[in-house]
This record gives sequence, structure tokens and C-alpha cells, in this order.
Amino acid sequence: MPQPKHTPELGEIQETLLIPLYARAVETRKRRGMLHDPRAVEMVDALEYDFSRFAGARSLVGANLRTLLFDHWVREFLTAHPSGTVVEIGTGLNTRFERLDNGTVHWFDLDLPDVAALRRRFFEDTPRRRILSASVTDPSWTQAVRDSPGPHFLVAEAVLIYLDEPGVRAVFDLIAGQLPGAHLALETAGSRMIDRQDTHDVLAKVSARMRWRCDDPRSVEHWRPGLHLADTCSFTALPDAVRRELPLAYRLLLRAMSTARRRDVEAYRFNVFRFD
Ligand SMILES: C[S@@+](CC[C@H](N)C(=O)[O-])C[C@H]1O[C@@H](n2cnc3c(N)ncnc32)[C@H](O)[C@@H]1O
Repeated sequence: MPQPKHTPELGEIQETLLIPLYARAVETRKRRGMLHDPRAVEMVDALEYDFSRFAGARSLVGANLRTLLFDHWVREFLTAHPSGTVVEIGTGLNTRFERLDNGTVHWFDLDLPDVAALRRRFFEDTPRRRILSASVTDPSWTQAVRDSPGPHFLVAEAVLIYLDEPGVRAVFDLIAGQLPGAHLALETAGSRMIDRQDTHDVLAKVSARMRWRCDDPRSVEHWRPGLHLADTCSFTALPDAVRRELPLAYRLLLRAMSTARRRDVEAYRFNVFRFD
């Protein structure tokens, strides 16, 4: 007998987690997809939600490319620090641990209480992997992370852009104070992206809106001493290690995007900051 589907009851911003989840499921169902995520397919099938509103959207491809880039950064971190700690901030129903677990990493999945509760339907805590139920702006989550072996790599994929700038600054201050030496991977959305989001092919289908406008991630370095932009790129210049693993069709698509839509593509950047 098929299990009854679960209707997710999520706040406005929290609902956005269904976009990258659906993107990974769609990609997995393709014959030549860029990633393979059977858990995402399972979760999409288990949820009562009208995913068809996102069907065919081009930015699903972008969501998956972003995921592969963040995977790449976490993989690099784990190569250098196999027993370090990774924190997936605003994890949604992300499956990065499933893709990257090396048998020794310590891992936290942090999200707001309604998402943490949804996540617990699909994922169990283990001695090396735990769900934390809190807002990223609430200092309480940092204690468990501080107690976990360093160094610490924090990933906030498609999360902080939904906060306003003072909220993002508060998160940076919190990390600087509580987790010195940590790295934080996140994206920045420039004006060309923020100003056009009402016509964006998937964001227009949900109520949440991006609020943090950042035209130049280097400007963030001035927020506080000891903050360094360690890496930054856009879809037009993904690291070779990511690009060469892509199916040919996607490599060609990236090449076309980097000429035809360069200014739009450059407005969305992926960054790693280091907190010294
Ligand atoms: C677009 S989804 C991204 C989910 C996940 N990072 C992924 O790539 O699949 C945004 C996520 O950020 C979470 N989020 C938004 N504001 C948050 C906050 N203040 N604290 C923790 N998580 C937050 C949402 O609940 C949601 O899961």
C-alpha cells in the first residue's frame, strides 16, 4: 500500500526549500543529469505539494549547478580536514551529507523549527550528524558547533539572501564572535537579480522574496576586521573541477549564458568568506 502523502506546513521563506529539492529530483530523473539524488525523488514523492508550478523552469538548472559548486567547496574542505565540522545553515531538505559523507566528518543541519520538524520525518540524528532547530540569527546554535571538532565550514546555500542586510550582518557578527577561524560559503544577489525577482521563473511562484542586495561581495570584507573573501565566482566561471564533471549539454549551456546573459549571470555570485 502506498504511504499517504504528507502536506508540509511551512512559512513563506521556508517554502523555498521545495525549489532546490524539486530541482534535484528532476535532475535525477533525467537520463544524463548533472547529479543523482534518489533521496530527493523520494521526498518529492512523499510530499503533498503542487511541484508542477516549478516544472520546466530554467533556474532549476542554476539551483543544481549552485549545489554542485557548494558540494565542491565542502569536498575540498573535507579533503584537507576529514574530521572537521560542516554546518548546513538553512538546510531545508538538502542531502549534501548523503553525497559527501566521508565516514569521519561531523555535521549539523540547521533550520527553523517547522523545517527541522519536517526534516526529522526523513532524516535521523546519528553520533556524527544532527539536526539543529533554530534561526541562524539565534546565538544558541553555535554552542553545539563550538563543541564539535574544528575547523568549521559553514554553508548557507540560498538562505541569507532572504534576510535583510542588518540580519546578514548580525549572522556575520555571530560567526566572527563564536566561531573564529570558520569559513562561510554563501551567495550574493546583485541589483539586476533583486529588481527582477517578481518575474523570476520560480521565485514568482512563491511568496518569499530576496531582501539582501549585494552588488559586490568584496564590499562585505569591510563589515568587520578579519573578514576575508577567500573565493568568489559566478556561473560564468565555475571551477574547472565542477565544470569538467558536467554533461556536455550543460557545459555548452554555460558557455552560451556567459556570452548572451553575462551581466545577469554576474549579478549572482557564490562566495567563501574566512573569519580570521
Ligand atoms: C531556498 S531554501 C534552501 C534550502 C537548502 N539550503 C538547499 O539548498 O536545498 C532556504 C532555506 O533557508 C531556511 N531559512 C530561512 N531563514 C532562515 C533562518 N533565519 N534561520 C535558519 N534557516 C533559515 C529556510 O527555512 C529554507 O530551508
